[in-house]
Amino acid sequence: MRAWISQAGGSSRRRRTSVGGIALAGEGVAPHTKRSPALLLTLSTPMNAASPPPLRSIRDLIRWGASWFNRVGLSFGHGTDNALDEAYHLVLWQLKLPFDLPAAYLDSAVTDDERTAIFELLRRRVETRQPAAYLTGEAWFAGLPFHIDRRALVPRSPLAEALHHRLQPPLTVVPRRILDLCSGCGCIGIAAAYAFEGAEVWLADVDPGAAELARRNVERHRLAERLQVVVGDLYAPLGRHRFDLILANPPYVPTAEWTELAPEYRHEPRLGLDGGDDGLALVARILDGAPAQLDEGGWLICEVGGSQPLFSARWPDIPVEWLSFEHGGDGVFAIERESLAAWIEAGAPLRSDLDGAMLGMSHDIVSGSPRVAARPSR
Ligand SMILES: C[S@@+](CC[C@H](N)C(=O)[O-])C[C@H]1O[C@@H](n2cnc3c(N)ncnc32)[C@H](O)[C@@H]1O
Repeated sequence: MRAWISQAGGSSRRRRTSVGGIALAGEGVAPHTKRSPALLLTLSTPMNAASPPPLRSIRDLIRWGASWFNRVGLSFGHGTDNALDEAYHLVLWQLKLPFDLPAAYLDSAVTDDERTAIFELLRRRVETRQPAAYLTGEAWFAGLPFHIDRRALVPRSPLAEALHHRLQPPLTVVPRRILDLCSGCGCIGIAAAYAFEGAEVWLADVDPGAAELARRNVERHRLAERLQVVVGDLYAPLGRHRFDLILANPPYVPTAEWTELAPEYRHEPRLGLDGGDDGLALVARILDGAPAQLDEGGWLICEVGGSQPLFSARWPDIPVEWLSFEHGGDGVFAIERESLAAWIEAGAPLRSDLDGAMLGMSHDIVSGSPRVAARPSR
C-alpha cells in the first residue's frame, strides 16, 4: 500500500513500512491494525498506566520512552521517522535543552519534577496519538522554528531542501514576488522569504485558523514588512496580483487513502490532506489558474507527493520536470508559465475537476468575514 504524504528527511528511502515516512494503518503500526487479541493485551496493559520509571539520566529516559513508543506501535512521520528520535526530541524539549546537546550531557541526572514532567509528555504522546509537534506547539522546517497547532499540518515538505538550494534548479533568476499557495502555518512562504531576501511573499490559505497561525509565525520571524497572509479559495483572494514564483503544497491524499492513515494523521486538518477521489482535484485547479497569476517567465512549483504516479498517468503529456532530493521525499514538480499556458491552450484535460469544483468560500482579507469566491475561470 502506498502512503501519500511526503516527509523531508529521507525516511522514504530508509523505511520499508512506509513511503514518505508515513506508516499507514494496515502496515503494523497503528492501533486498529489486525493484531491478535493476545498481542493487543500486551500492547495496552503494561506501560500505558505506568508511573514515572525509576530512571535518572536523560539518556535512560530517552531509551525508555523509545521502547514505550515501539511497544505500543506509534506512527512517526511528523518530523522524525523512528521512536528514538521522537523520544529524544520530546525529552529534550521538556528539559528546555537544545536538540544539538553535546552527548556528554545525556548522562546528567534529572530531578524528580523533571522526570514526572517528561513522563507526562511521553504519556500524552502514547495515549492521545497526537504528533509530537502538537504536544510541544513547535515544529521545525528548513532549520527554522514555527508555532504549530491543530489548525495546520505539521510541516514536512521536501520543499525545505529545495529552498535550501534556493530552488536551483529549476530557477535561474531570483524571484521577487512569491506566492505560498495552501500555506498552512506559513512554513514554506517564510522559508522562501529567508531564501530570497528582499522578496515580497504572499501566503494564502482557505482556512482562517491556519491563516491566523501563519500570521503568528510571520510575526515570530519579524517578516511582516514583506509578507502578508490572505484567506480564501486558491487564487480568489489574490486579485490581480501576479507572482514570478508560486510554491504550493496542496492536499493530495486520495480520500480512500486518507481514511486509512494512522491516528497521528487524523489529528491534522482533513482540509490539509484530503485531495478528493484521486487526490488531484485541487492540483487540477492550481494548474489551470497558475498562468493568470504568474508573470511572464514565472514558475509553478507544486508538491503532489505519493500521488505522482496518478499525476503522470492522468496528465502524461504535461511538460513538468520533477525535482530530486538528496534527503528524501519526492513528488514535487516544476513548470514554467509559458509551457503550462501552451499545454492548457492545447486542450489540457483539466475540465472534469473544474466543472466539479465547489464554489469556494473566500474571506475578506481585512474583516475576515466570509464571502463566496468566484468560480475559477475557464
Ligand atoms: C498540505 S497542507 C500544506 C500546509 C503548508 N504549506 C505545509 O507545507 O506544511 C495544505 C493546506 O491547503 C489548504 N487548503 C485546502 N484547500 C484549499 C483551497 N481551496 N484554497 C486554499 N487553501 C486550501 C489547507 O487549509 C492546508 O492548510
